[in-house]
Amino acid sequence: MAEPYMRVEGLVKRFGPFTALGGVDLEVYPGEVHALLGDNGAGKSTLIKTLAGVHEPTEGQIYIEGKPVQFRSPRDASDAGIGTVYQDLALNQLMSVTRNFFMGREMKTAFGTLKMDEMDQIAHDEMLKIGIDFSDPTQAVGTMSGGQRQTLAIARAIYFGAKVLILDEPTSALGQKQQMEVLKTVMRVRKRGDIAIIFITHNEIHSRLIADRYTFLALGKVIGAETRETLQHDEMRRLMAGGAEMADLEQELAAI
Ligand SMILES: Nc1ncnc2c1ncn2[C@@H]1O[C@H](COP(=O)(O)OP(=O)(O)OP(=O)(O)O)[C@@H](O)[C@H]1O
Ligand SMILES: [Mg+2]
Repeated sequence: MAEPYMRVEGLVKRFGPFTALGGVDLEVYPGEVHALLGDNGAGKSTLIKTLAGVHEPTEGQIYIEGKPVQFRSPRDASDAGIGTVYQDLALNQLMSVTRNFFMGREMKTAFGTLKMDEMDQIAHDEMLKIGIDFSDPTQAVGTMSGGQRQTLAIARAIYFGAKVLILDEPTSALGQKQQMEVLKTVMRVRKRGDIAIIFITHNEIHSRLIADRYTFLALGKVIGAETRETLQHDEMRRLMAGGAEMADLEQELAAI
């Protein structure tokens, strides 16, 4: 069995007196999709912001390839191979696909001019590798579909060295067909075998289609850690509901 690329032990995050994460353990393996599930307010975003260097943990330890690490900034996390694609994607709609791809990391000649042709080619090729043939990367991002934008953000994270790719609800704002396109992109990244993917979702069906491992959060704690093989359908519904018996809720609903 492969070593986890990243391991998290006893991660605690407090905001003043409020405990958003109450001791979370997590392991992510290259070539696997790890679904992170839980209801609103469970702590999913807080967990990934801690992994991405946005928040400093109050307690606990993050390990990369077995070595303890401290992230003091998003830059530290990114240098350690943590690539995060947030829900808003941080894209500038008015600028071209290529300019967005290379935002802040432009390729320049010795004279300081942009190597536009080279960057256009790379942006095109990198997106094609994970699923979209966007033939004209000089077009504005505003002309892309929502699914294509996700693919752009994912391709960019990988090109700039992500070994852990964190996707925060990448399908939630999309129509059904585009959701499937994004899942296909995720599976192509998985197939490379060298990248660990953390996939945050509310959607049971999506996680079932792609995930190798599952971690369920509720009120900042892990209430279930399962694999594709161990996760039972009823158990999933119970865990998605934060541990409350879904059947009870359904009975209450039926009794109204
Ligand atoms: N900066 C902050 N200061 C204080 N409380 C916070 C802060 N960030 C998050 N919280 C609280 O921590 C808890 C977990 O929030 P978080 O955003 O991590 O949940 P989530 O699982 O991502 O939920 P959602 O599915 O709604 O995105 C919530 O109760 C939230 O109000
Ligand atoms: Mg969230």
